[in-house]
Amino acid sequence: MNQPVMGGVAALNVPAHVKHQKLINWVAEIAALTKPDSIYWCDGSEEEYDRLCAQMVEAGTMKKLNPAKRPNSYLAWSDPSDVARVEDRTFICSSTKEQAGPTNNWMDPAEMRRTLHGLFDGCMAGRTLYVVPFSMGPLGSPIAHIGVELSDSPYVAVNMRIMTRMGKAVFDVLGTDGDFVPCVHTVGMPLAAGQKDVPWPCNATKYIVHYPETREIWSFGSGYGGNALLGKKCFALRIASNMGYQEAQQGGTGWLAEHMLILGVESPKGDKKYVAAAFPSACGKTNFAMLIPPKAFDGWKVTTIGDDIAWIKPGADGKLYAINPEAGYFGVAPGTNDKTNPNCMASLRENVIFTNVALTDDGDVWWEGMTKQAPDHLIDWQGKDWTPASSTKAAHPNARFTVAATQNPVIDAAWDDPAGVPISAFIFGGRRSTTVPLVTEANNWVEGVYMAATMGSETTAAAAGQMGVVRRDPFAMLPFIGYNMSDYFQHWLDLGKKVEAKGTLPKIFCVNWFRTGEDGGFVWPGYGDNMRVLKWVLDRADGSAPAGQQHMFGTSPNYGDLNWEGAEFSEVQFTQITSIDKDAWVEELKLHTELFEKLAYRLPQELVDTKQQLEGRLGA
Ligand code: GTP
Ligand code: SPV
Ligand code: MN
Repeated sequence: MNQPVMGGVAALNVPAHVKHQKLINWVAEIAALTKPDSIYWCDGSEEEYDRLCAQMVEAGTMKKLNPAKRPNSYLAWSDPSDVARVEDRTFICSSTKEQAGPTNNWMDPAEMRRTLHGLFDGCMAGRTLYVVPFSMGPLGSPIAHIGVELSDSPYVAVNMRIMTRMGKAVFDVLGTDGDFVPCVHTVGMPLAAGQKDVPWPCNATKYIVHYPETREIWSFGSGYGGNALLGKKCFALRIASNMGYQEAQQGGTGWLAEHMLILGVESPKGDKKYVAAAFPSACGKTNFAMLIPPKAFDGWKVTTIGDDIAWIKPGADGKLYAINPEAGYFGVAPGTNDKTNPNCMASLRENVIFTNVALTDDGDVWWEGMTKQAPDHLIDWQGKDWTPASSTKAAHPNARFTVAATQNPVIDAAWDDPAGVPISAFIFGGRRSTTVPLVTEANNWVEGVYMAATMGSETTAAAAGQMGVVRRDPFAMLPFIGYNMSDYFQHWLDLGKKVEAKGTLPKIFCVNWFRTGEDGGFVWPGYGDNMRVLKWVLDRADGSAPAGQQHMFGTSPNYGDLNWEGAEFSEVQFTQITSIDKDAWVEELKLHTELFEKLAYRLPQELVDTKQQLEGRLGA
């Protein structure tokens, strides 16, 4: 199989079930450019998954974990230079710079095409080109969108099988002329004849490029996460956010692609509500989406629709409906344990790909925070001996697991319902050690949009660069918006008006689990205890919660408004994390001003007015 034909061009090997000539031509064109040794069309079968994993074990890319401890699971260690998304190498190449906006890197598309053409020429030499067909959203559903990723990384192929609906059936949906988003990915390390491969090939030069007009994605030089699994951030957020905006520009209602988890909450009486929440990368979405309510909430159940991405569309009934376009979780391992997230730990018992966690002596995995006591000896994520006395971390702070959503014990029954679920409340939250209170309800949609737009958060290990620096991360979408941020704000405002004209808008809330005390530790217990806040949010959303305390930003609960049964959380502590420090907010508003200056071009006047009102209330 896959014998190169004369002249060194790999045989196309088009399977009989692929009948889409444009797709076939495109694969041929990319193969002619990238010059792989062979071309392999993924069918998405278990047999194929097992075979590719075995091949990677053979090549040293992955280790098979002890089947008695972690059945059917693997561990991959990346190159130490390739451990997170590279935001400074991510580009939105719309035809004009204004369309990408001041928060995105931009290059003229023609110039970028020339640059990439040079880099991609021969980039897959010595490797196999995997054709990876995938659907974001349930296969064949009217809200789903199809992509095809051409990648020279078998690690990408197997991860895509978990993260998306990947395989042969996608070609049936595509038929002879269906639409798909072409995604081209290379690790950027061609092999000369006879050259030995390395366990994690990559390139110091990296480009994560989006052409929104032609809806194309090109990724060079990284094999890690959002840089390489192109269905996720590149397609389901950057390209999809642009699609949803364009639909409105062309006279449609438009829709939203958001960096949001979606969860369901069922009361003991059987009432079911859904909430969507946007927190920046590594700020608690997966944990919130799988939350187990404390004992005080006996009979309450939280279920997961999604943990990272939501596509949201207005329904004919005047409600907003959300779907999770993904089929798996690519979640942060460090900090996850049986206390913080038992549902997640249960999801990870088998059939998992771990990346950059540590290996135990008995062939299992470990990461910081998994157990109170670290094992006496480990092999760390860089393949070195590690003991609790070591000064380095055993797992990389952005170490991740890839696991199918269906392994989540609290997966919602409607998780892959193409109709989506109606959203009762939006929650926005950053990681802020100071200033931002535990929870605030916005006075109205416009003020909620303002809150989300001006949200700040401390940077995390999910992106390359400095950690713990407060930056503005509007809607937790700073690294993921596929067009001009000011236009995005306007799109939210416009959509709000359209929905309001027909029905009721979800209420908007802002939370912060991360205020720290004098000892530097988090004051709020977080995790399961976030249910106490979630319950208040739901009660406010349906109008059943007490009035709370009104302040200059909106409404927050009084201490007595939350259910504290079983919690040891004093009123003093509550005040510590809900107090609004005027001086700190004067400084915070300056950062809003800075953001608005940056986004001045086409910034919605309503947001400028809202800021002025806030400044007035703050000064009063
Ligand atoms: P991405 O996958 O990067 O988009 O991240 P995410 O938002 O899904 O983050 P995740 O839930 O994986 O959490 C990241 C880190 O935050 C983990 O180390 C968690 O243990 C920690 N974390 C999550 N929820 C809480 C919380 O309520 N309180 C505190 N203090 N930490 C939390
Ligand atoms: C994030 O960084 O927000 C993630 C992980 O969800 S990645 O897919 O690598 O972008
Ligand atoms: Mn994310």
